[in-house]
Amino acid sequence: MTEQITLHRFDDMHCHFRTGEILKTVVPLTSLYAGRAVVMPNTRPRAILDADDVTWYREQILAAIPPDHRDCFHPLMTIEIRNETTPAMVYAAYRAGAIAAKVYPRGVTTNAEHGMEQLLSAQAIDTFRALDELGMLLLIHGERDEPRLLVTQREEAFLPTLQQLALQLPTLRIVLEHVSTRVGVETVRSLGANVAATITAHHLCLTLNDVIGNGVHPHHACMPTPKGFDDLDALIEAATSGDPKFFLGSDTAPHLREKKECAHGACGVFTAPILPMLLADMFERADRLDRLDDFVSRFGAEFYRIPRNHRKIVLGKRSWCVPAEYAGIVPFKAGELLSWQLIDSCVC
Ligand code: DOR
Ligand code: ZN
Repeated sequence: MTEQITLHRFDDMHCHFRTGEILKTVVPLTSLYAGRAVVMPNTRPRAILDADDVTWYREQILAAIPPDHRDCFHPLMTIEIRNETTPAMVYAAYRAGAIAAKVYPRGVTTNAEHGMEQLLSAQAIDTFRALDELGMLLLIHGERDEPRLLVTQREEAFLPTLQQLALQLPTLRIVLEHVSTRVGVETVRSLGANVAATITAHHLCLTLNDVIGNGVHPHHACMPTPKGFDDLDALIEAATSGDPKFFLGSDTAPHLREKKECAHGACGVFTAPILPMLLADMFERADRLDRLDDFVSRFGAEFYRIPRNHRKIVLGKRSWCVPAEYAGIVPFKAGELLSWQLIDSCVC
């Protein structure tokens, strides 16, 4: 039995840090094991839409990194593309350090009420072309909301749009974020090498039953919603297959307890505090621990065309009880025992 594993520091290619005080709680939890995190722009009250927002947000994040992680953790900044975004805004955001842009189709998730409406309009395609010219990536929340369409069907309904984008922009690197269905996995596989997908740790262990099948579990509620067992099998297979099109994007999404445990609770699963341990457990169950390092630190870096992190972390086989709360935020698997523990967070 494997007792210890050494992994490169992670690239978490999909991370929500929020703004303000909460940064001091959440940033150090990720910087403990990640070399980089792609930071999502759906912040409130100020969303990250242009160059000034990028500069403002990066400074806040940098200030929240603990001094002993400062040289081993770097945030990768993004902007959100909305109907109003112009190529000039994309160019300016790039100069301010943004490496990718995120699209939320309007209304499909937390803080997406001003999201984009027509992803295939001439104006949208022009904006995406600017990303392509700059070597930036397009990150997509791949769900489509329509009347009389169940929440479980939203990812599948979006896939024709993804296919169209990949066809019209064959050199733009596009990431289908947090893929959650077998048909999503198959679509990404069928498209060119410019299309990849992130997979979260919680989508590797939850089905819809874990959200609403045994009482309502607000801390498992997220978008895209976890699906069925066949989808779960397809995600585990994709993550552990060694296919470089699939890499880690945790979508760790902190919300205060009272925003989750209420009527009309917020969507998002806070996995940051347990991410390496949870993934080690998942990959071990699939008998694929040998493929974990590529999933968390190699394939994402290759797709983003950035050098792999050279520092490492060490996990040991020791049971560990997940804390009940981090400054008012309930983590995934709160109070449960995990079989792995982080024993060294920065090996040179
Ligand atoms: O569950 C989710 N939470 N999905 C998203 O797409 C957004 C995220 C958040 O910001 O809380
Ligand atoms: Zn997200």
